[in-house]
Order: sequence, then C-alpha cells, then structure tokens
Amino acid sequence: MLIKEKEKKKIKTRNNSISKKLYIQSYGCAMNFSDSEIVASILKKEGYITTLNPHEANLILINTCSIREKAEQTVRKRITEFKKNKQANSDLVIGILGCMAERLKEKFLDEEKLVDLVIGPDAYRDLPKLIKETNEGRKAVNVILSKEETYADINPVRLNSNGVTAFVSITRGCDNMCSFCVVPFTRGRERSRNPESILSEVKQLSKIGYKEVTLLGQNVDSYLWFGGGAKKDLLKLPVNKIKEAIDFSMLLEMIAKKNPKTRIRFSTSNPQDMKDDVLKTIAKYENICNYIHLPVQSGSSKILKLMNRGHSREWYLSRINAINKYIPDCGLSSDFITGFCNETEKDHADTMSLMDIVKYHFSYMFYYSERPNTFAQRKLQDNVSLEIKKRRLQEIINLQHKHSLIRNEKSINKKHEVLIEGLSKKSDAQFFGRTSQNTVVVFPKNNKEIGDFVKVRINECTSATLIGEII
Ligand code: SAH
Ligand code: F3S
Repeated sequence: MLIKEKEKKKIKTRNNSISKKLYIQSYGCAMNFSDSEIVASILKKEGYITTLNPHEANLILINTCSIREKAEQTVRKRITEFKKNKQANSDLVIGILGCMAERLKEKFLDEEKLVDLVIGPDAYRDLPKLIKETNEGRKAVNVILSKEETYADINPVRLNSNGVTAFVSITRGCDNMCSFCVVPFTRGRERSRNPESILSEVKQLSKIGYKEVTLLGQNVDSYLWFGGGAKKDLLKLPVNKIKEAIDFSMLLEMIAKKNPKTRIRFSTSNPQDMKDDVLKTIAKYENICNYIHLPVQSGSSKILKLMNRGHSREWYLSRINAINKYIPDCGLSSDFITGFCNETEKDHADTMSLMDIVKYHFSYMFYYSERPNTFAQRKLQDNVSLEIKKRRLQEIINLQHKHSLIRNEKSINKKHEVLIEGLSKKSDAQFFGRTSQNTVVVFPKNNKEIGDFVKVRINECTSATLIGEII
C-alpha cells in the first residue's frame, strides 16, 4: 500500500514536470526579448520547459510593448487568439509581462478577461509565487518597480537562439523623460548592472560558442557602476568612491580586452550622453563594432526642445562629426518621429536636411502616437493630422531608402569581415551575416559554417542588403 502511494506520488511529480510547459512570446524592443530569457530562466528552476507550440502549453506569457498605440493593439489581438486554447484547457494560465502590464496594472484584468496574471518588468522573480496564486484560482498582479533590480545573477535561457549572437543587458530603466515616451513610466528609474556579472555572462557566452554580444540599455552611455542603486545616490558617496565608479567607456574596454575574439555591439546611445572617450574606445579595439545607433527623433531644435530631448540639432551634428573623426567608417542609424506636436513643414524640412547631412545607413521611422500620462499628452496638443503625419513619414522613408542605397553602393568591390549568423531567407544555398557596420550581407555558403568569421567581397547591393562572395 505504502509503495503504491509512493509510486502514485512519483507519477504525479513526473506528470507535473512533463506538463509544465511555457510558451513565451515577446513584442517590442530588444530589452523585452532579453527579459523573456530571464523569465525563462526563473521558470526553468520551477520545472518549466519552453515550447514553440502554444497549444501544448499550460502557461502562456506575453511580454508586451507600450511604445505606440499600435503595439498595444497588436498585443490585445494576440490575447484574443488564445481564447480557443483557454476553452480547450481550463488549467491554462495566461500572463501579461512587460510595459503594458506596468502601464495598465490591475486594469488589465478588467479589460482582458482571458488574462490571469499581470507582472511588471522588475517583478519577474515573483513569477513562481504569482503562478501558484493563479493555480489556486486567484488572479495575480505585481507591478512594483524597483531602484535596484537588475537580474544580475540570473543566467538567461537563450530563446530562439542562433547560437552565435546574444543580448546582454547592462542597464535597466530610463531617467531621460523624453516628453513623448512611455518607457520611464513602464520601466522605472535607470540603474546599472554590476560589471562583474556582465563580464561573467559575456565570458560564459563565449565559452559556449557565441561570437557576438549586444550590450543593452535604454541609454547605454549613461551606464555608471558605483555599487548599485539610482544614479543620483552617487553624489551621496565619498569622493574616493566616486572616483572608483565605472562608466560606459570603461565597461566597454573591460569587455573588449577580456574577450578579444567576441564581437561587441551596444544599443542604444543617447546623443547628450555620448562622450568622446566611448568613441576612442570603439576606435581602439578591433572587436568593438564600428556601428552606432544614435536616435535623433527630429532635425528641428524647436521640436527637440518640445520633446525634452536634452540635445539640439547642432549638438547632435557635432556628435556625428566626432564619430566621423574617431571612427571614419562608422555605420550610423537613427530613430525618427514625424508629426510630433506643433511640427510645421519647416521643422519637417529640417529633419530631411539633417538626414541629408548624416546619410544614415538605415533608420527606424514612426509617426507620433500620443501615449497616456506622458508630458506631451498632458501638456501639448497632438495637433498634426494623421494624414500629414503619415505623409511626412513616407517622405522620410523614401529619403532613407536613397541614403541606404548610397551607403551600400560605397561597399561595392570592397572587402568586409562578416560573422555568419544563419541561412539567407531567400535561399538555403546562401548564408547571411553582418558587417562591423551592421549591414546585412548575403553570400554563397562555400563550405563555411554558421558562427564563422569570413571575408566577403561585395559585388552588388540593394538599399537593404549587400550581396557578395567569400574570398
Ligand atoms: N532609448 C530607447 C528608445 C526606446 S523607444 C532605446 O533603447 O531604443 C524606441 C523609439 O520609439 C524611440 O527612439 C522613438 O523614435 C520611438 N517612439 C517612442 N515613443 C514614441 C511615440 N509616442 N510615438 C512614436 N514613436 C515613439
Ligand atoms: Fe524613451 Fe527617451 Fe528614454 S525615447 S527610453 S525616454 S531616452
């Protein structure tokens, strides 16, 4: 009898572990994708294995984005698609992670009846407890933001990985308060991660075969480690401690030096915080990629002021000059918003003229989407019509295409070192990889393997892709 009970228990635990299947889907920025890997790691310890099939999952987590209204609509649509899964499996738990969870809090549970659990970006360690609550039939919420949480000690489970490139987060949150942006509200105060834990994560990645890391933060240039906590706390420390603080260029140098075979990228840089010493470090180390994503948003100083960007057109262009001086072949990209409050045709023309001066390799371009509770929503009028916003957006997209083509054509007949990341989307006989400048290159396989560094001569191009062959 006793044995039978034991046996039963064993079967139950086995079934439990078999049935703990997590389907996790991420929307939005790289930080969300990186956070999902932290979540998978936290839940792995609880016996969850990830699945790519939502139909066999008993836990579905959606890591959400609030940056534009459209991003939120996409998430809501996705939630309704899981209605059938819930009907088929009454034990299924659906959880909302990330920025929408933080923005909407308990309200989310009222608005989306299918959702059982709402958890903000700093509360993921609490997931096991919250899941337990939902298993007991209660709805669960934790949206507490933290001044400390960096998940430094968690070794992320790499999801959908190519085994070659990985994200490593170095800061969380943002203190910048751009007037259009919801991120400071959803991701909280800026805090930096302990450099030791960053170095050990990069080392571990390199040990298991990864060849490239991208250091992530909303504003990597303001990375500052002095023992943890919010940045303003630094001033409370004695002078000798302040002097020991590690800034972004120092961190970059430490990682580059200790991992000479690993390619290093980072994102995102902010114009007002990007100092020359970072540029000098990039120039000094072969393994730090010659590529900077430097969002400008608008080419008009008047609009930049309304956006509370902390930099003018002139300051931004002086940063571009500094980049070109220290890193002459640097890949450059930007983010743009068209139709922000009070944007006139003249302001729009200023954006186009700034683009003409810089000639970015590529850009992420959006029309303005008003976000609840931001400064712009509270104090400024969303007074450019949707039609004009979209027309201006199309104009900058067309201009960017021209510039991308000009930049790419300059690579023809040149040789680039490329890291092979995977099979080309169009043909299994071809690989794709990226240059140091972050441009995608497609070329025949030539007996090489994913993860190899190869020299590729560029023969032709489109505005999006370089086409070449291994030499
Ligand atoms: N510093 C961040 C920026 C995050 S938001 C980073 O790491 O990339 C990414 C981009 O979305 C911004 O640069 C901006 O161009 C755009 N964006 C942010 N809020 C927006 C809004 N309300 N409407 C339209 N685009 C927006
Ligand atoms: Fe948003 Fe500006 Fe920070 S765009 S993420 S508030 S730098």
